Formats: sequence, C-alpha cells, structure tokens
Amino acid sequence: MSSKIVGIDIGSVSVRAVEVKNADTAKPVISRYFEMPLPDGSVRRGEVLEIGTVTTAIKRLWANGGFKTKDVVLGMGGPRVLSRDLAMPKAPLAQIREALPFHVQELLPVPVSEALLDFYPISEGEGENGPVVNGLLVAAIKEAVAANIAAVTNAGLRPVQVDLIPFALVRALAPASGPTGLSAVVSIGANTTNVVIVQNGVPQFVRIIPAGGDDITRTMVSRLKLAPGQAEAAKREVGLGSAEIRSELRPVVEVIYEVAGEQLNSIRNTLNYYVNTKPGMVLSRVILSGGGSQLPGLERALAELTGVPVVRAEPLGGAHLGGNAKVRPTREQQDAMTTAFALTLGTSS
Ligand SMILES: Nc1ncnc2c1ncn2[C@@H]1O[C@H](COP(=O)(O)OP(=O)(O)OP(=O)(O)O)[C@@H](O)[C@H]1O
Ligand SMILES: [Mg+2]
Repeated sequence: MSSKIVGIDIGSVSVRAVEVKNADTAKPVISRYFEMPLPDGSVRRGEVLEIGTVTTAIKRLWANGGFKTKDVVLGMGGPRVLSRDLAMPKAPLAQIREALPFHVQELLPVPVSEALLDFYPISEGEGENGPVVNGLLVAAIKEAVAANIAAVTNAGLRPVQVDLIPFALVRALAPASGPTGLSAVVSIGANTTNVVIVQNGVPQFVRIIPAGGDDITRTMVSRLKLAPGQAEAAKREVGLGSAEIRSELRPVVEVIYEVAGEQLNSIRNTLNYYVNTKPGMVLSRVILSGGGSQLPGLERALAELTGVPVVRAEPLGGAHLGGNAKVRPTREQQDAMTTAFALTLGTSS
C-alpha cells in the first residue's frame, strides 16, 4: 500500500499526470505534475487511437516527471460513455452494482457483455414493487476503455481504477463542502464538453457533448484556409469579444460566433432539459473549467445566454502543493492539471 497515486488525463492535446499524496483524505497534497504533448490524431474524444504512440508519450512522461509510484487512476469520458436515469430495487450498493447487467439491456445501444456498468445513487423512493434507489447508470463501451488501459499498462504502469471524468470533476470542483444549491459543472475541452448537474456533491445528471474548442480551430482551417497554428492564435486573440475588430479579422469572428454559438446553445439546452424535467429546481451557478472555456468572452456569453451566474472553477480546490509542484503552477498549468488531479480524489491505492 502506498499513500501516493497518480491521476492520468489522456486529453486530445497532451497527456497529463498529477501525483497526489493522501488523495483519500480531506487534505490531499499534490507532489508532482508533468505533461507531455501528444501528436495530433493519436487520441480523439478521450479514446486512444494509436496505442504505441500514447505508450511512448507516457513512458517519456514517467522518465521526466519523477513520479514515485506506478499506481494510476485513469479517466474515461467520451461519446461512448453514456449515462441514464435508473431506479433499482433498494439494496446495498455492492449488490445493486452486481445486479445491473440484469436490469439495463434496454437502456444500452450494445449488448450488456460489451459494456462496463456502474451506478451512482442519488435518492431513495417508492417504486411499483417496493422501495427503490434512484440514481445514474453509467455505461462505457469496453472496447473504448481497453485501448486507454493498454496504453498505460504497456508503459509499465498499474491502473488501479478507471473513473468517469465528469464525476471526478465534481469531486474537485463542486464538493459537498462547497456552496449549497444546484450547480452545473461545465468543462469545455478540445473535443469534449462535460456537463454535470450536482447538488451537495452528488451528481444528478451527466451529459458528455462531443464538441469543444478544437471545432472552432478546425472550421477556421477548412473554411478560411488558415494554417492550424495561425487559426489557433487568431481564435485566442479574437474570441467572442465585442471590441472593435479589424476588418481582415471579420471572417474569423464569423466562424467563432457560429461554432462557439452552437456549443453554447447545446450547453444551454442541456441545462434547460434538466431543469425542465425537475419542476422547482433552479440552478444557482455554472462552474466553468477546461481549456476551451478560456476563449475570450465565453464566460460572459454563457451567463447571458443561460441567465445563470457563471463562476470560474478553482482548479485544484484547496489542495496543498509539495514536491516539484511547490513552485506554484501558473493558472494555465493549474487548469491543465484539473482533470488528472480530480481523478485521484477519493482513491486509495
Ligand atoms: N486562451 C485560450 N483561448 C481559447 N481557447 C483556448 C485557450 N487556451 C486553450 N484553448 C483551447 O482549449 C482546448 C484544450 O482544452 P483542454 O486542455 O481542456 O482539452 P483536452 O483535455 O486536451 O481535450 P479533451 O478533454 O476534449 O480530450 C483547445 O481547443 C484549445 O484551443
Ligand atoms: Mg480534457
């Protein structure tokens, strides 16, 4: 048993690892972090496509990062992970998890044997045949998880747990000790946007939207014939700002408004969908994170569109920093570390 664990976030842009001591206590300490860029196309929407390439990157990450353990927690989150409302006959959680395969086939697009299943309880109630536990069924396609596990194992690491990224984000960004009321954690990545509605630290609803900041860049490249680097720079400079725009930037502005606009609309629709199905529920805040949320003007646009106050996530919660993380990471580094850090929380190795 070691008291250290490393969270690994295999993103589209890079693979990031954060080593945490005492991750299962109220006082986690971040002891190391490191990041290694991934070649374009090796990972898409959270799924490893080129196992060898990602294994090499992870080996380099370990060679350079000075991590003191090989025990890792892996994150999953992509369009092939789905979540549904589910009421299960009341029983201890372990028993409910065991019984899942017999209850959920009609909710899944694949045979039960090809899915990894989990259940997160929300509340207790009365069903037609007696007491039930209402909760969220989470199902991941095994095949999608297998490549990520292979990339990590081939690099000589021991995956001790695989966790759903949106739930991990809740533990870090909207814990039970946070402000009361209903919050929505919205994390915009390169190719995925996680939306989780949470109350008192308990996830109530999850949706993984297959869109993110890279969609804007890609559209600029294809439509305006810009080089990817140029497009990325223009996106970050111009954003959704309303300040005066030089006329040669007009086409850039149009793409950003169109693509980011669509994404903001689907976030709003997701929030509305949840609130409309739960009469009396009012969202108190949106907690915003992820690289894609750095787009200038996006925070304000989301607040205007939803009418809900938007706050920036505190990426590392109240974690202490030690080891090579003692030199306080920049805000941008902290944002990049968020998912990997969140994955470790609550795990013991
Ligand atoms: N200052 C900025 N302005 C606009 N966009 C930004 C800025 N900084 C980063 N981004 C965008 O954020 C995205 C990367 O975010 P993040 O690092 O959270 O993604 P990821 O975890 O690698 O991807 P995913 O979770 O989708 O697999 C990219 O699309 C990038 O262009
Ligand atoms: Mg991410």
